[in-house]
Amino acid sequence: MDKVNIGLSPKSRTKVISVLSGVIADQYILYTKTRNYHWNVTGEDFAQYHKLFEEQYSAIDEDIDDVAERIRALGGKTPATLAEFVKAATLKEHPGKYPSAKAMIANLLADHETVIRSLRKAIEICDDVDDDGTEDFLTQLMEKHEKTAWMLRATIES
Ligand SMILES: [Fe+2]
Repeated sequence: MDKVNIGLSPKSRTKVISVLSGVIADQYILYTKTRNYHWNVTGEDFAQYHKLFEEQYSAIDEDIDDVAERIRALGGKTPATLAEFVKAATLKEHPGKYPSAKAMIANLLADHETVIRSLRKAIEICDDVDDDGTEDFLTQLMEKHEKTAWMLRATIES
């Protein structure tokens, strides 16, 4: 770990870096799944979903960069291989499956909700070690997922 003198002990930073490494792993899976659905969605609402998924994976892509750079700011090396992401992620992929547009939305909603619950725990860990910066950062990230989850939920409500 890099020498960083910002008032957080190496032990605290190690803990937060480990939390952020879990966050980026799930973000990467969710990014890939959303992009998969952007490519493979079919049906009469194709254009609408194709565009919605693009907006969502683009937003997640930016968040991934922020999480990675937050790990670096805390003195850690960011996990940056697909193998590490798949291993550390709690979200699951479903290779070879091409669900209906409605099922895609439901899958993404479930994943965003899983991420929100993980982030809520991650925020508490940051609070325990007095890392106000990461606590604030992850709170904002959680709010973005809550908003996306609402939009997905509203899309499948009849
Ligand atoms: Fe595209």
